[in-house]
Amino acid sequence: MKTLHTSFECYPVAKVGGLADVVGSLPNYQGDLGTNSIVIMPYYDNAFVKKKKSKEIFNGEINFNDTNYHYTILQLQLSKQLFDTYLVRIESLLDREQVYGYEDELNRYLGFQLAVLDWILKEGHSFDVIHCHDHHTSLIPFFINNCYDYNKLKGTPTVLTIHNAQYQGHFSHDKLDLLPSFNFENVGLLDWYGSINPLASGIKCASKVNTVSPSYMEELKENANGLEGLLRSESEKCTGILNGIDTKFWNPETDKMLAKNYKSANVVSGKKANKKELCDRYGFDLNVPLFSFIGRLVGEKSADLLPEAIREALSNYKEISVFILGSGHKEIEDELNALKDEFQGSFNAHIGYDEKLSHLVYAGSDFLLMPSRVEPCGLNQMYSLRYGTIPIVRRTGGLKDTVIDIGDGGFGICHDQASVWDINYSIGRAVELYKDTKTFRRIQKQIMKIDHSWTKSAQEYIDLYKSI
Ligand code: ADP
Ligand code: GLC
Repeated sequence: MKTLHTSFECYPVAKVGGLADVVGSLPNYQGDLGTNSIVIMPYYDNAFVKKKKSKEIFNGEINFNDTNYHYTILQLQLSKQLFDTYLVRIESLLDREQVYGYEDELNRYLGFQLAVLDWILKEGHSFDVIHCHDHHTSLIPFFINNCYDYNKLKGTPTVLTIHNAQYQGHFSHDKLDLLPSFNFENVGLLDWYGSINPLASGIKCASKVNTVSPSYMEELKENANGLEGLLRSESEKCTGILNGIDTKFWNPETDKMLAKNYKSANVVSGKKANKKELCDRYGFDLNVPLFSFIGRLVGEKSADLLPEAIREALSNYKEISVFILGSGHKEIEDELNALKDEFQGSFNAHIGYDEKLSHLVYAGSDFLLMPSRVEPCGLNQMYSLRYGTIPIVRRTGGLKDTVIDIGDGGFGICHDQASVWDINYSIGRAVELYKDTKTFRRIQKQIMKIDHSWTKSAQEYIDLYKSI
């Protein structure tokens, strides 16, 4: 079976969040199960792409927005990756340093999708499934089934994976002429509540739709930023498939980004060496529990609650340390920076993105905070389990599907509300757990053995492909 993943992110080529981790690992596991999965993504002008060798394999031209865009397809030469990765280069449109955040992002998403389809058509590729990730590539199912230019691809099976339904990519009808021509009777397949909504269109037109955890799919049917009714009416083709993690890459026994490697048998000394590295760098006391947060500083992650929650926690429980690694809303970043002076020695933050540091934080922390308001799956809690760090999560989406509270016979600490009070209550429970050294160590060992590798979910995707 030959499948094409279309995505704006793929680790290690370009990563903003979990989408990159998923697209950078799922195809490998699918390959192990006998599927030929390849990835196509934009060519970014970033350090990684510049450093790597790539081979030009195709040149073509697309026309939209009254402009002819020349595009090139390059094949990346990656030694470690088992799957083939192709890059779409469109000069001055796609080849920029950042993945998102440009004013003309609609043109970037359209240009990419049109170039991918043009390449498939002109090269005569035949894929058993085109797998689209998020709204950036979710117009593909509409294009291949409705646009005259892609008639030959009509009926190609498609899967849309919704990693996050907060972002839908909508734009107004007056931009409709940016799209390739199609039978106007079908314009309803693009529209949702008066605007062109790529995510809604993907849900309507893809052969199958899935979210990245079963609970998130159920939550979306109740509340999906306006798409709940659509997901309910399309529920027959919708499922939830829990993300996995690349356990070969995220492996504390071999991870080169750690201060010391370890496995469950020597978790205590291994984690201590990594914690010491963090404590030395950030001025913490090695003997008190270290709570960390890694992620985008945005409302979805409840990052707006963190400054107050941290202030309260550090006042209530004197003997703890808190560390934040993240970037996002400027106000939250500023508040966190201000807390550094106030709570020197017990609070610190690295504002920014740092892949290497994130590995050290998963390894060196005692607890990982994930009080998310919305969490379609969440990978951090799975990384933290693998590194023996106990997750403290709000019961939502994928967090609900992967973390069971100690009180229910599980291994994590869960709360229900995204509130300062709930976060603090959970930190209080964690402080008590930390004091109970025997139980704390038993859980550390236990969680490192939980299998969240892709094997099972990769098979579920293959079963989904086979069903179409
Ligand atoms: P989301 O995709 O919603 O941001 P996920 O939990 O799925 O959340 O994935 C987040 C990924 O991004 C993880 O690999 C996490 O380690 C990484 N990450 C998030 N913020 C940072 C940061 N500031 N520095 C390094 N890695 C980060
Ligand atoms: C999104 C979600 C996150 C999920 C990731 C990978 O970014 O916010 O919860 O883990 O996609 O699917």
